[in-house]
Amino acid sequence: MPFPKYLTLLLLAAGLPAIAQGRHEYLLDTGWKFTKGDVPGAAAPAFKDGKWQSVHIPHDWAITGPFSADNDVQVVKIEQNNEAKATAKSGRTGGLPFVGTGWYRRRLAGPQLGAGQRVALLFDGAMSDAHVFVNGKEVGTWPYGYNSFSFDITAFLQAGGDNVLAVRLQNQVESSRWYPGAGLYRNVHLVVTDDVHIPIWGTYLTTPRVTAGLAQVSLKTKVEVPGGAFQPLRLDTEIRDAAGQVVATMSTPLAATDDLEFAQNLVVPQPRLWSPETPVLYTASSKLYAGDVLKDTYSTRFGIRSFKFEAGKGFSLNGQPRKFKGVCNHHDLGPLGAAVNVAALRRQLVLLKDMGCDAIRTSHNMPAPELVNLCDELGFMLMCESFDEWKSPKVKNGYSQYFDEWAEKDLTNLVHRDRNHPSVIMWSIGNEVPDQSTPGGNKILKRLQDLVHREDPTRPVTMGMDRFDADINNNFAAVLDIPGFNYKPHRYAEANGKLPQGLLLGSETASTVSSRGVYKFPAERAKGKQYPDNQSSSYDLEACNWSQIPDDEFVMQDDLPYVAGEFVWTGFDYLGEPTPYDEKWPSHSSYFGIIDLAGLPKDRYYLYRARWNPSQPTVHLLPHWTWPGREGQTTPVYCYTNAPAAELFINGKSQGRQAKSNATSLTRYRLMWPEAKYEPGTLKVVAYDAAGQVVGTEEVHTAGQPHHLKLVAAPASFTADGQDLAYLTVRVEDAQGNLCPDAAPEVQFSVKGQGSFRAVANGDATNLEPFQKPQMRAFHGQLVATVQASSQAGTVQVTATGKGLHSGQLILTTTAAATAH
Ligand code: GAL
Repeated sequence: MPFPKYLTLLLLAAGLPAIAQGRHEYLLDTGWKFTKGDVPGAAAPAFKDGKWQSVHIPHDWAITGPFSADNDVQVVKIEQNNEAKATAKSGRTGGLPFVGTGWYRRRLAGPQLGAGQRVALLFDGAMSDAHVFVNGKEVGTWPYGYNSFSFDITAFLQAGGDNVLAVRLQNQVESSRWYPGAGLYRNVHLVVTDDVHIPIWGTYLTTPRVTAGLAQVSLKTKVEVPGGAFQPLRLDTEIRDAAGQVVATMSTPLAATDDLEFAQNLVVPQPRLWSPETPVLYTASSKLYAGDVLKDTYSTRFGIRSFKFEAGKGFSLNGQPRKFKGVCNHHDLGPLGAAVNVAALRRQLVLLKDMGCDAIRTSHNMPAPELVNLCDELGFMLMCESFDEWKSPKVKNGYSQYFDEWAEKDLTNLVHRDRNHPSVIMWSIGNEVPDQSTPGGNKILKRLQDLVHREDPTRPVTMGMDRFDADINNNFAAVLDIPGFNYKPHRYAEANGKLPQGLLLGSETASTVSSRGVYKFPAERAKGKQYPDNQSSSYDLEACNWSQIPDDEFVMQDDLPYVAGEFVWTGFDYLGEPTPYDEKWPSHSSYFGIIDLAGLPKDRYYLYRARWNPSQPTVHLLPHWTWPGREGQTTPVYCYTNAPAAELFINGKSQGRQAKSNATSLTRYRLMWPEAKYEPGTLKVVAYDAAGQVVGTEEVHTAGQPHHLKLVAAPASFTADGQDLAYLTVRVEDAQGNLCPDAAPEVQFSVKGQGSFRAVANGDATNLEPFQKPQMRAFHGQLVATVQASSQAGTVQVTATGKGLHSGQLILTTTAAATAH
């Protein structure tokens, strides 16, 4: 873990208590005031912020909307989408008011700084262009909104005084290709240490040798000794396994003349290896002594694993060949916006895990530290990405304006923060940067890659490339450790023939578009297809001009051993980039997700699950079977299954048995009855294994009239920590419990007891209802409410009501939170 352990977690309204010696970390989540707009003098300690809004950090100032076509409308020609002329794109950044200036203020009332204590502020990310002031003086600035950064503020504090922290953030128009969020959307920490201390991200832990019998653990620990007389230092380290047993110890002295870094090599016998299937973690805890005085304690959580990328063979983890079953995700959490929340991230990962996904690309920027921690714990391999732009712009005010001055600092912080995590397997230095085809682009690539190698020689560097010919001809792709291609399955063989690495990666794949519950007829393959309702069909046959349906990528993944896997665009729908409706307001969120913006799986989820999660049977039928007016019309039926064959029945009449075959990419991965005729009743599929044994069945019934609202909660019990979330899916059902697939009633929520309503979403990219009001219409029979626990354990009663429908009710329980992390 890159962060020192929380010795004490105090939720401070406004002040800090008297500080004892040693390390203390405080989460600065409460006591903040916020205002939108630029305010002269807002950094001054005496400034009156009483009228500002009280906010809890993480906070996204723009997610409350309202949505408007006028928010950051971009009149642009998107080059990477091969557009010929500039057009107005209204929903490109989500149609939300993230542009502008915002100020945050908070008191840091009187840390009783004893002589020789140090105080630092650590921001996990601030959107964007942060200027940080303490007591009216600027302590530092960090332009890139996605990166973590820290400042030593010791010299700016008044001991025992009433200190004021102020942060000014500013987001420019045309600075992003998706919704970036706005404000202090990630956590802020205050770190108090002794003068002699281990700095933020002060350890670098690697496991250079891993065998069944032992793992060598190399731990480098930096020490800062600001001024003063140097005393002999000592670092006592112990490694504990997941059960808390000490498995290795070492005590290392440091003579005054040494470079201020401890280098320790410990041996863990019979290590339990980390993998997505076995996410086993260890912790190295160190005590730093100056003379006999304990000065600091610092913990680094890690995992033991080895991996290899090999020419002709691809990737292997702990000696086992495997291909990345990955998704790309943007950072927003749907209706919560960019404000990070551990429960929301965990829910995403749990859904992805069930699909069999084992890897995530943090497109196109540094992830929240909470995501990296969760990937360690739940078992996901990460491609940690940094930039969507280098020197050449994609949007007028994007990262290119900062690149020359900040790229090295940004990459260094990313690598220092995340390099101890077992989940992190690769670093990505960019995505589809136009510099691929500019003279000298390969020199930039080399510089960035060398820089990453300097900070972490144990992991390879990759990036998402899209300008195939330039990449090959300009000696660009050849420089990369791992060539990553976006949407080029048809050219993998050519790339492999021309490049020296002998392997490559589908760094971004598919970009198939679909809307949950929407089926368009006839079901046919199409590129850039638009419909009057601004939705895309869930037959999973529609992609972009530059992209593919999943099956076309699968073929190359399966047939080419040197392809090391894929990262599908995207796991979850996200705010902004509503392709193919970029010009069609009110579309404001993506259609690419395997899972929609509300967190409800689309049909495609089961296409991937059938392939990626062989341990679970998948037998999924589409479309729904409630089509009044389509009686007798051709209504193709697909089955996504890991079984090789299945037989379809409509009202008991066999429609024939289908078996997967290599005839086309579709027949290879889907079972299809393209000529099925709709008649109300029951659609049933029986799946068979290779020996002809029944391995699963699935039925879909024609639904009657909407009758009631059913609530399904995940999880049913959550923690009373003021932050934990429960997600309640509301289903509009008929009297028999069938989903009414076209029902769209307005649903009202009431939340009582030890929890509160937080947000609601229905997954409809064209819906302009705010996420924060406790009401929304269902989209294709479903929507999802988010309920937040209070800090008191107890029960939470949730009721959902809709006109003419029996209401749904659910009682959730919250359990007491642990007092310290
Ligand atoms: C890629 C790009 C992604 C996203 C995607 C949509 O070219 O890297 O950020 O825009 O296209 O298909």
